Amino acid sequence: MSPTLNLDFVRSQFPAFDQESLDGWAFFENAGGSYASGQTIDRLHRFYTETKVQPYAPYPASTTGGRQMDDAYVRLAGILNVGTDEVHIGPSTSQNTYVLAHAFRQGWADGDEIIVTNQDHEANSGVWRRLGDRGITVKEWAIDPVTGLLDPAELHTLITDRTKLAAFPHCSNIIGFENPVAEICAVLADAGVVSVVDGVSAAPHGLPDVGALGADIYLFSAYKTWGPHQGVMTVRRSVCDSLTNQSHWFNDEEITKRLVPAGPDHAQVAAMNGVVDYLDALHEAHFDDGAAPDERGRRVHDLIRAHETALLTPLLDFLNSRSDVRIIGPSNPAVRVPTVAVLPSKNPADVATALVDHKIMAGAGDFYAVRVLQAMDIAVDPGVLRLSFVHYTSPAEIDQLIAALDATL
Ligand SMILES: Cc1ncc(COP(=O)(O)O)c(C=O)c1O
Repeated sequence: MSPTLNLDFVRSQFPAFDQESLDGWAFFENAGGSYASGQTIDRLHRFYTETKVQPYAPYPASTTGGRQMDDAYVRLAGILNVGTDEVHIGPSTSQNTYVLAHAFRQGWADGDEIIVTNQDHEANSGVWRRLGDRGITVKEWAIDPVTGLLDPAELHTLITDRTKLAAFPHCSNIIGFENPVAEICAVLADAGVVSVVDGVSAAPHGLPDVGALGADIYLFSAYKTWGPHQGVMTVRRSVCDSLTNQSHWFNDEEITKRLVPAGPDHAQVAAMNGVVDYLDALHEAHFDDGAAPDERGRRVHDLIRAHETALLTPLLDFLNSRSDVRIIGPSNPAVRVPTVAVLPSKNPADVATALVDHKIMAGAGDFYAVRVLQAMDIAVDPGVLRLSFVHYTSPAEIDQLIAALDATL
């Protein structure tokens, strides 16, 4: 039988829960950025205090620092089920897609085609759409304006023999629905189209098995997965090899640098180990065998998701019972992540402000998903109220949120 999440253990791993300044506050803006695990903070502190020298030189502080950075790539690759040479760590997901768009354009001819969606955060949309000004034909895979969902059947009608790439989200930061990524990637692979999946909204709910999803490129932001402020992307090796080097010319053969012209943030790359340290600790606290990294990743993912779904159910039930609020995206907790955008009859920003009196941290706005709101005919200003949590959230905090919403909606 699968274990259930030991919440006391989980919360003991996050120093934020011991802070007097945060005492009594319930955090519901996790989709903007999560609390950092203690392991991440320790790793950052260790790097800055013990090894804050130029890495990869022969003296001990430097070799240790470099080794920590190398370990991060190896360990992330293990848990994501991709090759070590397929992990790239850059300053943010927005910056990573920006670099990718430049790299891909150099290999394409005028008139080649790409597909984008209007369900994405702008980070996986705008950089691709701008290629329309540089000779590329951009087609939009559009959401249903009522449900906010993408219809996979429609994708087939957009693919031609000139289609080079399709960018789409694992899950929108407004709609919350988990798109059938494996199915979509298989359709694209059959047609010889590169898949670029924005996993930023999905990864905080358990890092994915990217190998099983079959995504050519998968992106997420570690500051939302309990880690440092970095963007992680996996790029299939054959795809990476086909791209023009975006770093200094002499770094052409350096796989971790080819798509990161900014140069690595040494301490934060090393602190990526803190994410894996945390997931390993979580695994160890719930399973008593030494499974391989990819299996550990899958188990911990399922453990996290089961807890989140159980907590999401009463929140969605409550929201569904109200006539003064509309849930954006599906109401079924089994098909969505706990990032719930709602449209209250009151101004969303006013509700977010009123929630502060109840020690609820939540936000309102467009969350850079402007195209989603426009397509659903929702005013971008003031936008929506967004309530998002992750697996460290407790049933008591959900009760606190529901009581606060009851008083403020
Ligand atoms: C779904 C989604 N994609 C992409 C991004 C951009 O990530 P970053 O801040 O790392 O550029 C965000 C940020 O909030 C997001 O929510």
